[in-house]
Amino acid sequence: MPSRTATVNDIELAYSTEGEGPALLLVHGFPLDRTMWHHQIDTLSARYQVIAPDLRGYGKSSLGKVDPEAGVSMRQYADDLAGLLDAIGCRQPVVYCGFSMGGYIGWQFVQHHSARLKALIQCDTKATADNEETRAVRNKMAAHVSEWGARRVAEEMVPKLFADTTRAEHGTIVERMKRVISSTDPSAIAAAQLGMAARPDMTALLSEIKVPTLALCGKEDQLTTPDVMRAMAEAIPDAEYIEIAGAAHMAPVEKPQEVTAAMQQFLKRV
Ligand code: MLT
Repeated sequence: MPSRTATVNDIELAYSTEGEGPALLLVHGFPLDRTMWHHQIDTLSARYQVIAPDLRGYGKSSLGKVDPEAGVSMRQYADDLAGLLDAIGCRQPVVYCGFSMGGYIGWQFVQHHSARLKALIQCDTKATADNEETRAVRNKMAAHVSEWGARRVAEEMVPKLFADTTRAEHGTIVERMKRVISSTDPSAIAAAQLGMAARPDMTALLSEIKVPTLALCGKEDQLTTPDVMRAMAEAIPDAEYIEIAGAAHMAPVEKPQEVTAAMQQFLKRV
């Protein structure tokens, strides 16, 4: 996946762009990087321009200046993405595809950059804000991750991300994700946790979404559960909902063929 860099806002944003055609923007989750999309990039770039950035602070992108109280807001990440599209001269409306935190950012992209949006794919994500308990967990991690190190975050998170069958039969996928999380800058982890803790409830936006939408959810996802995602899709006027069997939260990497095929079907009709 050849890496390029664009200067966007106050940072150097790393990204890849592969293929030509209608533009598809793939936005990774927390605390990951664009390598989570490698199957989708390899397959879909045959027909689409697939743009996959590392969000600020992740992968090869710089973090920039961070307010230590507020972290990086979902709006800031969304503005970075719009800035990246400007920087690379992508004028056509994009299909925005976000995974989990990439989905939280997606709602901000819908709200603030709607002219750039052709369609929406939301994977394993939700529109609601955090409850107090989740906020407290995020704030604790933000306060301590620099002393803990990212490896501890990987050890804590990974058991919750995968289906039992993935853990039993595809250990290399699990190890790969562990490596990505372990090598993430603790400051970027803290900044995103604060930003996610402060993110607003976007439920009221759902009925206003005008573009075709695909909601994808791993059947065993315990972080953004199928019932939550199904209800979210039902609230969006032109949305379809697809469940991916044998996958949990990390559906796009656990069942890449199935997720890519569902995306392909959707992309054909939008
Ligand atoms: C993610 O996968 O991006 C995270 O699970 C999102 C979150 O922490 O809410």
